[in-house]
Amino acid sequence: MRQRRSNQGQWSSRLAFVLAATGSAIGLGSIWRFPFAVGEHGGGAFVALYLVAVFVIGFPLMIAEVMLGRRGRRNPISTMGMLSEEEAGHRGWSALGVLGIATGLLILSYYSVVAGWTLAHAARAASAPELGGSADAARAAFAAFQADALQLVLWHSVFLAAVAWVVARGVEGGLERMVTFTMPVLLLLLLVLVGWSMTHGDAARAVDYLFGASGAGIDAPLIVAAFAQAFFTLSIGVGALMAYGAYLPPDTRIPSATLTVVVTNVVVSLLAGLTIFPLAFRHGIDPGEGPGLVFNALPLAFEAMPGGRLFGTLFFLLLALAALGSAIALVEPAVAWAVERRGLTRPRAVLGVVGAVWVVGISIALSFNALSEVRFWRGTLFDNLEFLTSEVLLPLSAIGIALFSGWVMCRSSSSEELEIGVGSRFMLWRAAMRWWVPLALLGSGVAATLAWFGDRA
Ligand code: PHE
Repeated sequence: MRQRRSNQGQWSSRLAFVLAATGSAIGLGSIWRFPFAVGEHGGGAFVALYLVAVFVIGFPLMIAEVMLGRRGRRNPISTMGMLSEEEAGHRGWSALGVLGIATGLLILSYYSVVAGWTLAHAARAASAPELGGSADAARAAFAAFQADALQLVLWHSVFLAAVAWVVARGVEGGLERMVTFTMPVLLLLLLVLVGWSMTHGDAARAVDYLFGASGAGIDAPLIVAAFAQAFFTLSIGVGALMAYGAYLPPDTRIPSATLTVVVTNVVVSLLAGLTIFPLAFRHGIDPGEGPGLVFNALPLAFEAMPGGRLFGTLFFLLLALAALGSAIALVEPAVAWAVERRGLTRPRAVLGVVGAVWVVGISIALSFNALSEVRFWRGTLFDNLEFLTSEVLLPLSAIGIALFSGWVMCRSSSSEELEIGVGSRFMLWRAAMRWWVPLALLGSGVAATLAWFGDRA
């Protein structure tokens, strides 16, 4: 075993890493994004592709990103610079760290706005307007909320302030404690919610929609969208896993620790789907209506459940806490870089990074109201940033990770760091990095781009 090059902090145990990585993975991606992405892409085919993407593409990529992080033991830019130097004789691959950090901050700018919606819903659940079980009323209530620029900006600011507060105090201790509490309770509430929604909603149709062979054919844009969902929920490609891997004790086996995170995250996503779609079908909500889906469907359940207002408050609050765990992972790489490379104190680094995200986030919050007429390319500012980050930048970053760990890094370095020997499992992982992950991503990306130009011609 070679010498570790720095003596920075470490997770107290393997479990602590699993908790932190799970905390970063489970958030709005599985509970908000997964249902509306499934709905926008027509159900079963998308879900099947997403599952394949998670296990065949996402899982090996996660292993790679954590592995790079542990080998570098620095912020993602310095880690990639150092490994690049070591393996290729130049620092060019540090660009991959820059890409990841920039993508993470862009994601956070709208993630925080949506997390603000959940906070607002937690605050309002007790005093929410009467919906009378009507989907139209639910939609109108949410539309009225979104039209209120001041509220959106305010809740976005409250959420980011919480992120700044936690990150400024240092990630390791607080995060571990928060996740240990938040995740089990959220899971419990979700289970109750699934039970209620399956018994009171249209369960049969929902199950068929999610797992049946839906009519929609599989094409390149669908594949790209499924990859995007997998990367987004697993927190791949923004340097977060690299940053958390940097604190991983040297004797922890990365593949098994990672698999726990993957499975938990898939389970939560599917549970979210099984909650939302029975409600949507029962109340006649269009599954493809977009990012408002969860916020239109859930209040109808909370209104009808016994004790639902309290339950709703709790659920949205815990969802906001889960989003906090993810948001922390989105800023930590940038903060670590600013502290390590720019010599800033932690609070100052946080202030600078979060301040920038706050400003961009305001324009995103306004894209739902004051700036809703500003439309280009994919739609509003929010639509564009969402598409650019998840369907363009995350896959690019993933290709970079695969190429670096499969082709640039020599076999002995990666096998040493992964500690799984050079047996068949290692060769499988390496084949993923060298061949099928980059080929699948490049192939689907090129095909989707061509299809897009074809549609416009
Ligand atoms: N995985 C998080 C979620 O699903 C979002 C996220 C992406 C967090 C990338 C960190 C890094 O909500």
